[in-house]
Amino acid sequence: MTDPFGRDITYLRVSVTDRCDFRCTYCMSEHMTFLPKKDLLTLEELDRLCTVFIGKGVKKLRLTGGEPLVRKNIMHLVEEIGRHLKTGALEELTLTTNGSQLTRHASDLYRHGVRRINVSMDTLDPAKFREITRWGDLSRVLDGIKAAQDAGLKIKINAVALKNFNDTEIPDMIRWAHGQGMDMTVIETMPMGEIEEDRTDRYLPLSMLRADLSRQFTLEDIPYKTGGPARYVKIKETGGRLGFITPMTHNFCESCNRVRLTCTGTLYMCLGQNDAADLRTPLRASEGNELVSAAIDEAIGRKPKGHDFVIDRRTKRPAVTRHMSVT
Ligand code: GTP
Ligand code: 5AD
Ligand code: SF4
Repeated sequence: MTDPFGRDITYLRVSVTDRCDFRCTYCMSEHMTFLPKKDLLTLEELDRLCTVFIGKGVKKLRLTGGEPLVRKNIMHLVEEIGRHLKTGALEELTLTTNGSQLTRHASDLYRHGVRRINVSMDTLDPAKFREITRWGDLSRVLDGIKAAQDAGLKIKINAVALKNFNDTEIPDMIRWAHGQGMDMTVIETMPMGEIEEDRTDRYLPLSMLRADLSRQFTLEDIPYKTGGPARYVKIKETGGRLGFITPMTHNFCESCNRVRLTCTGTLYMCLGQNDAADLRTPLRASEGNELVSAAIDEAIGRKPKGHDFVIDRRTKRPAVTRHMSVT
């Protein structure tokens, strides 16, 4: 699959549920309205769609959410998609999780072929963790990380960099993650979906964080690539890798390789755009995959050049109205 800008689409992100057991304040509002359960694709339908995408050249598939591990029977889908690893059609099956359910699922993930996962964690302070997630228990996440390591999974810690929240703590988080053999990435907060606060108050450009980090660490640019948007450095003092994900200050869209499928069968061609294609209707219209395959081709044919993250100055509302958890 090649888009109008010559970019090969080889990475599919699948949000298997928009629900989550946390409510991170930069991600969700306290009283979220979730998609009606009746609109969800079944796990069999999600598997069918994933299989079509793999047949069309997807090599890396990531399950996300919301929190992917709160979807009922999710291991069934992991097992089914994992079969494509054995044939070599798929190169990597992975997931992005908040870690809260990992103790239960880590060994099954490994058994079905997952080798590397990303765990979202914005602080190592239990009180601050409770504050940012609204009620999350840090010790459960730490137990989950330990269980995942024991099961043989490689872990990357994702932290959204937030001014006056975790900016001064990031060096300690880096030392902690690298001390346990984990990579870490820091992320700029993006205006997506309405939340209680104005995100600009907490927005921290990563160029500033990088300048701060350079005062205590030696950062060496490295060519390491995972197929995601992060640009990595090696930190000489810890020997570990740190990735910067900079959607707001440095546009990485020119090398975009991904599209995003929601749990209702909507395909978003870009995280930062509202345009979408309905795959549920062609999926359900026929038992064969020709219709859905044609709908995917049509959608890839209008993948936009890049994202459009803006906050309307007058209304203060983000232009992208869906939350990150939907897609
Ligand atoms: P790796 O395979 O480890 O490289 O993971 P990844 O970065 O592809 O996936 P992950 O789910 O860990 O994403 C981390 C963050 O990257 C997300 O929270 C987003 O902030 C950002 N991100 C991922 N994909 C996109 C994208 O297509 N556009 C934008 N603007 N941001 C993205
Ligand atoms: N901006 C940037 N990252 C976000 N995430 C959720 N909402 C936002 C946002 N508005 C992050 C989570 C997790 C990943 C899946 O997305 O922290 O790491
Ligand atoms: Fe859940 Fe992740 Fe959003 Fe937090 S950032 S509410 S853990 S989906």
